[in-house]
Amino acid sequence: MIAKVRKAVFPAAGLGTRFLPATKAMPKEMLPLVDKPLIQYGVEECIHSGVQNIIIVTGRGKSAIEDHFDVSFELENLLATRNKKELLQQVRDISGMIDVSYVRQKEALGLGHAVLRAKELVGKEPFAVILSDDVIDSEVPCLRQLIDVYEFYGASVVALMEVPKEFISAYGVVDAEPVDHNGSKNRLYRIRNMVEKPKPEDAPSNLAIIGRYVLTPEVFTSIEAVEPGKGGEIQLTDGLKHLLRSRPVYGYKFEGTRFDAGDKLGFLKATVEFALKRHDLGNEFREYLRHLKL
Ligand code: G1P
Repeated sequence: MIAKVRKAVFPAAGLGTRFLPATKAMPKEMLPLVDKPLIQYGVEECIHSGVQNIIIVTGRGKSAIEDHFDVSFELENLLATRNKKELLQQVRDISGMIDVSYVRQKEALGLGHAVLRAKELVGKEPFAVILSDDVIDSEVPCLRQLIDVYEFYGASVVALMEVPKEFISAYGVVDAEPVDHNGSKNRLYRIRNMVEKPKPEDAPSNLAIIGRYVLTPEVFTSIEAVEPGKGGEIQLTDGLKHLLRSRPVYGYKFEGTRFDAGDKLGFLKATVEFALKRHDLGNEFREYLRHLKL
């Protein structure tokens, strides 16, 4: 029997330096895409993938995230007395949908280090990792696509995307061989090696790791075993590379569009695309864009 993925870890203790000054006093996870904070997109992706147990790894200055997923009596009361039923439902849904717990990462020592903070809360079961900077628009939630692969092979799976060479140094990059899966050979890969943020000339391929992972619990021991890597930080990629010594790790080229919402340009693109898709805003916004002198 392959254990079910019930928990998702959200590393959210980073300083958000790519988005200063907006992130000086506000967590980057709370930047709104249209009207929903980034982290809520990730949380909803979990819910739609059947994962309801959310573990958020926070740090100093991140209390707005905790407040966001908490019950706000004052706000609910106000909306109820004003008879704003739809808004009230939306606000209630946020806190009602998930079972959320928090763990502190006292120092920002890297993504691997952040994931390791969740070891006790995860326990000995498979779990997801979601980087909320990576917002993915897809028919089947990206995490669900990875869980389907996990449930088939019982092994760790990371999300992959092809990235042009000039941008490859911003990612973890894999050396991998294609595997037949569901009658096609162009989505699933068995990973041979991986490297965090290589120079373009050292990149083993154009397949980059995107911020969605389904991991088996042995990864914690692997992260504990690695030394600080790129940038002097404990890297999740290095932990996964260590895991490869004893377990298979797969990569899945997911179906969907990914936005790097932790980057200003990526954030703008995501805002426009998501606003255009909205029933309540899309038409007027499209009209507005049409009339811009570009
Ligand atoms: C992290 C990971 C990297 C991955 C990327 C995806 O890097 O370390 O392997 O490719 O997320 O977004 P970061 O963007 O946090 O520097």
